[in-house]
Amino acid sequence: MKLQGEPQGERVVSTPYGEPSSPIRFVAVKGQIFALIFRHGLEGSTPPHRINYRANIEALASLGVKGIIGINSVGSLKEGIPPGSLVVPDDFLCLWSSVTFFDDRAFHVVPRLDEGLRSALIDAAKRAGFEALDRGVYVQTIGPRLETKAEVKFLGMIGDVVGMTMVHEAVLCCERGIPYASLCTVDNYAHGVGKGTLGQEQIRAMARQNAEKVARVLKELRL
Ligand code: HPA
Repeated sequence: MKLQGEPQGERVVSTPYGEPSSPIRFVAVKGQIFALIFRHGLEGSTPPHRINYRANIEALASLGVKGIIGINSVGSLKEGIPPGSLVVPDDFLCLWSSVTFFDDRAFHVVPRLDEGLRSALIDAAKRAGFEALDRGVYVQTIGPRLETKAEVKFLGMIGDVVGMTMVHEAVLCCERGIPYASLCTVDNYAHGVGKGTLGQEQIRAMARQNAEKVARVLKELRL
């Protein structure tokens, strides 16, 4: 994802949880400073199950960021949400794995996505000329494999999109008290949904197109 703006340098941040996925890159856009972390690494080579989510969120928290926006690639669980769509989820589900800052005491955060950031993303998408879907349930699977058709059928009963990264980030942000929302790019129909071929190449090609949309939306963000 390219964020067009004035480059403001880069910083390597260490955390008690280890190294974040990438150095933090600072970009000024219309007077606002964005701090970017590339969760899959600068080369995109870190698979979702190997991402150090705690280090990433802790690194951004240590900078005192006001909020975090995840840009998350997803597959669509619904025929009515075609590849190329943008979705700003309002809820999420991940029943099979968890990541937490609370390893040594019992603390049970109430997980949610931030309504202020969600509205800002939906408005920014409108200004950029896109109709982002303004709600939806994001289901996180473990990865790195895609889902089977049976799994997609099951997940589609409750969810709208499926990905491998957003929930861990959202939950850790809730635990740190940092507002979090996500702009999801629908890069494919999930396995067995819609027509067409599902494969890495198709997903990558659509992700490249969607990355340009994301850059335009972020340019229009007013926080
Ligand atoms: N499944 C899980 N994660 C994804 C998908 C998918 O189909 N597409 C992009 N991320």
